[in-house]
Amino acid sequence: MPVGGLLPLFSSSAGGGLGGGLGGGGGGGGGSSGRKGSGPAAFRLTEKFVLLLVFSAFITLCFGAIFFLPDSSKLLSGVLFHSSPALQPAADHKPGPGARAEDAAEGRARRGEEGAPGDPAASLEDNLARIRENHERALREAKETLQKLPEEIQRDILMEKEKVAQDQLSNRAGFRRLPPVYLAPLNTIGAIDREPADAAIREKREKIKEMMKHAWKNYKRYAWGKNELKPVSKGGHSSSLFGNIQGATIVDALDTLFIMNMKDEFEEAQAWVEENLNFNVNAEVSVFEVNIRFVGGLISAYYLSGAEIFRKKAVELGVKLLPAFQTPSGIPWALLNIKSGIGRNWPWASGGSSILAEFGTLHLEFMHLSYLSGNPIFADKVRFSSRPCIAKDLNQSKIHFLLFADHVSVGGLGDSFYEYLLKAWLMSDKTDLQAKKMYFDAIKAIETHLIRKSRNGLTYIAEWKGGLLEHKMGHLTCFAGGMFALGADDAPEGMTQHYLQLGAEIARTCHESYNRTFVKLGPEAFRFDGGVEAIATRQNEKYYILRPEVVETYMYMWRLTHDPKYRKWAWEAVEALEKHCRVKGGYSGLRDVYFNKESYDDVQQSFFLAETLKYLYLIFSDDDLLPLEHWIFNTEAHLLPVLSRNLKKVEDDGK
Ligand SMILES: *[C@@H]1O[C@H](CO)[C@@H](O)[C@H](O)[C@H]1NC(C)=O
Ligand SMILES: *[C@@H]1O[C@H](CO)[C@@H](O)[C@H](O)[C@H]1NC(C)=O
Repeated sequence: MPVGGLLPLFSSSAGGGLGGGLGGGGGGGGGSSGRKGSGPAAFRLTEKFVLLLVFSAFITLCFGAIFFLPDSSKLLSGVLFHSSPALQPAADHKPGPGARAEDAAEGRARRGEEGAPGDPAASLEDNLARIRENHERALREAKETLQKLPEEIQRDILMEKEKVAQDQLSNRAGFRRLPPVYLAPLNTIGAIDREPADAAIREKREKIKEMMKHAWKNYKRYAWGKNELKPVSKGGHSSSLFGNIQGATIVDALDTLFIMNMKDEFEEAQAWVEENLNFNVNAEVSVFEVNIRFVGGLISAYYLSGAEIFRKKAVELGVKLLPAFQTPSGIPWALLNIKSGIGRNWPWASGGSSILAEFGTLHLEFMHLSYLSGNPIFADKVRFSSRPCIAKDLNQSKIHFLLFADHVSVGGLGDSFYEYLLKAWLMSDKTDLQAKKMYFDAIKAIETHLIRKSRNGLTYIAEWKGGLLEHKMGHLTCFAGGMFALGADDAPEGMTQHYLQLGAEIARTCHESYNRTFVKLGPEAFRFDGGVEAIATRQNEKYYILRPEVVETYMYMWRLTHDPKYRKWAWEAVEALEKHCRVKGGYSGLRDVYFNKESYDDVQQSFFLAETLKYLYLIFSDDDLLPLEHWIFNTEAHLLPVLSRNLKKVEDDGK
């Protein structure tokens, strides 16, 4: 029902343009409904197009003939009038042998209004005017079609294809029975845990698990089933990002509970998902947030635990999000009502345009949705190569273009896009060469335009705002250190060390932003101007909301270099969280990290359980717990296995 409901949104723009001139073009192709693939849709379009051209040539011929052969004009026009219903004027309509009497009467009556009855000259003039009009219209339409760029025609074909696929989807029969998926035994892909040999490390890891227990226990006690916990006032907190979808903390926490071997808690979370997780709500959601948290969390829980319910729910939600792609460009809406399927963009995004991240960050999850559902529609929506216009736009020119747009940053809006280019490459088992190229092109541009060094040697990533470089770096941007390091191995020749080094420098800068505060947790944004370095100067940038990006970068740097300072820094963060953010009812964000007295924001963000605690736990685990060559962390730290080599090979071996 929800998918079917929004189809009309699209059909008018796709089929209407061409079909209109040809008497409806067969009503959107009755012949193709129920059939699969590109064949029928592509054929229909081409057919219309050729028909149109033939038509306009024919009319030109006849039009000329009328002037050159005046004597036979009557004959010709007679032929013309019967050649096509679209061109058939009511005037001078001679009823044929089988025609009904009313038709003839109506024809006569109309002719009586328009000209002198029986006056052959008036009738001819009238006919000529009509012919001319029809001719011009046909020419205009043919010209419009001819003027379309190949990409546009390609896009029209794609849209038609999607319509067919959506039609099939709308009954959702294909999703009731999901195909068998071979799950690799968890120990072969590193989801089985071992205690670290070093007792001190083991103890630290236990401590982080205890933090998870504290966060979970209080959520369960005071906010069970709500999106998030208010740890100070001890109640539920709901964010508008998820509309009326509930249980964000539960879905976000699933894989962390699993990895930490918290069996009882995982089971109660699973039971809640089975009984209560409901997507049949009339609510507008952020496509981006719902995808990274809910779709990502469910997929991750499925791969780790093998419990069918997670796959079923992930695919169900994926189907609900599909209407977001019903846009002319194929770049999804930012906001979607998952009941009506009606989408729109953030009102504050410039020109109503979609934000880079909104498109890019659906990629990883949707590739897996296709694998898990056996239906290619999800992957088709997000594959760069299936969208020539997008691939072209996002080709280096767009990345440069973005630098001249109003506001460019690696943090916040654009961040996860670059991250997902890299991860698309890695998750494809290094087969998606286009993603790889786009990633390295993008970070080269970032380095040229945004990365700067402070007077005292701190490397930071600035923001481009209103034509000026703003010497400010956001906490969100701190993830980039880990990203540079993670991609370093595949960097163009001679650049591996450079990107590892860049990752290390960003990690150091972000650590400085933590170390220079009172609580030893970093601010939302810190500046490198007005005589300060790595310090927030504006009151509204001094808060810390339990964000993960800095410990995320520590995790990658630790895994990739084993420099002990990253464990040291991670432990500093643990101690600071315990000292300043932990309250009786859970963990709270802080309003001012420079202030010597805690001022709680009273929200325990769901990403604290999904990301911050997970990354910390991994820093104090052995590398063979979730090895990076087998697992990709989505931007909410949910786990997606590398596709193809990992799954497909194991799948073959298993047969
Ligand atoms: C991107 O641009 C390069 C150079 O202009 C070109 O060779 C390549 O084919 C383009 N890629 C896409 C997907 O358009
Ligand atoms: C962190 O800050 C303390 C002072 O609070 C200072 O002594 C220490 O050197 C700093 N550490 C780093 C790595 O900058």
